[in-house]
Amino acid sequence: MNDDILSYSSDKQGILSRQKLPLDQEPEILSLRPKTLSEYIGQPETIETLEIAIQAAKIRNEPLDHVLFHGPPGLGKTTLSHIIANELGGELTVTSGPALEKGGDLIGLLTRLSERDVLFIDEIHRTPKVVEEFLYPAMEDFAVDFVFDKGVHARSHRFRLKQFTLVGATTRVGMLSAPLRDRFGIFRNLDFYSEKDLIQIVKRSAALLNLSMIDDASAILARRSRGTPRIVNRLLKRVRDYAQVRSDGTITPKIVKAALLLEGVDESGLTNLDRQYLKTIIDYYKGGPVGIEAIAATLQEEADTLVDVVEPFLLKIGMIMRTSSGRMASESAYHHLDIMVKSS
Ligand code: ADE
Repeated sequence: MNDDILSYSSDKQGILSRQKLPLDQEPEILSLRPKTLSEYIGQPETIETLEIAIQAAKIRNEPLDHVLFHGPPGLGKTTLSHIIANELGGELTVTSGPALEKGGDLIGLLTRLSERDVLFIDEIHRTPKVVEEFLYPAMEDFAVDFVFDKGVHARSHRFRLKQFTLVGATTRVGMLSAPLRDRFGIFRNLDFYSEKDLIQIVKRSAALLNLSMIDDASAILARRSRGTPRIVNRLLKRVRDYAQVRSDGTITPKIVKAALLLEGVDESGLTNLDRQYLKTIIDYYKGGPVGIEAIAATLQEEADTLVDVVEPFLLKIGMIMRTSSGRMASESAYHHLDIMVKSS
């Protein structure tokens, strides 16, 4: 199960309605999000680029260039779009590529935008081609072209839009068409966070939630959160529950370890799904190379979930390798699973 990916659907007016909120999008976790660039921890180059671009746009009284964020889920793409709208003094409208089924869905959103507003399109690589064609003039000329009638009677009418900023987010930058990619002026890759940054993030969240947490406990949480702020905040909630129910509420290293054991999160931050993925390559496919579709079929998981959610961190920490003939488990994956088997 992938709870990192939001499920969206569009209603009759093409306005986004969000289905059941995933755990990590619950209001309390949302309130932990930084609201300004100065509050943001990590991704220093991205933050500096945005600070300069936003300040320059304000000085010139021009719209901010369209921004594209790419990288694995949970690293701050949505949070940054909220911050950008806030810093520009505009409103944020959130939608996603798959929710925009027809040109009208997008036009409905675009025509409601005011100057300085931000339109955030998550999973922008999944925007249907017919909708994408409306994005080009909207991004370049702040206009949408309506075509009436067909054939020789076809007439077009250009509707002017307010000068908005589009923020696109994608986990698969390679799947974006060149014309769409080229229309973004700011293009940033979000990478996994360092342990140091995650310690700061979890300490900030604990303070906002009025929790008492021992320093060593924040370091353990940070080390086991797969370089991902969304995960560190979600695990903090589980640890808080455990500390309140099984102890006096103080978060100690012992409490963190016990709570995370219950969650199936191991010393390296790997989850049950991560370990099953590695075990599949090693036990079923002799360590690889093996294609992603074969791994997905064995695990009965979506290949997209494995590619977007599971693999990026395993690649980052060197537990797997991606070769032209498929995925391979590295020596450290064997080592890690062996340790896990022996200690359980
Ligand atoms: N909460 C989630 N992500 C954060 C970040 N990058 N900085 C501060 N708090 C956060």
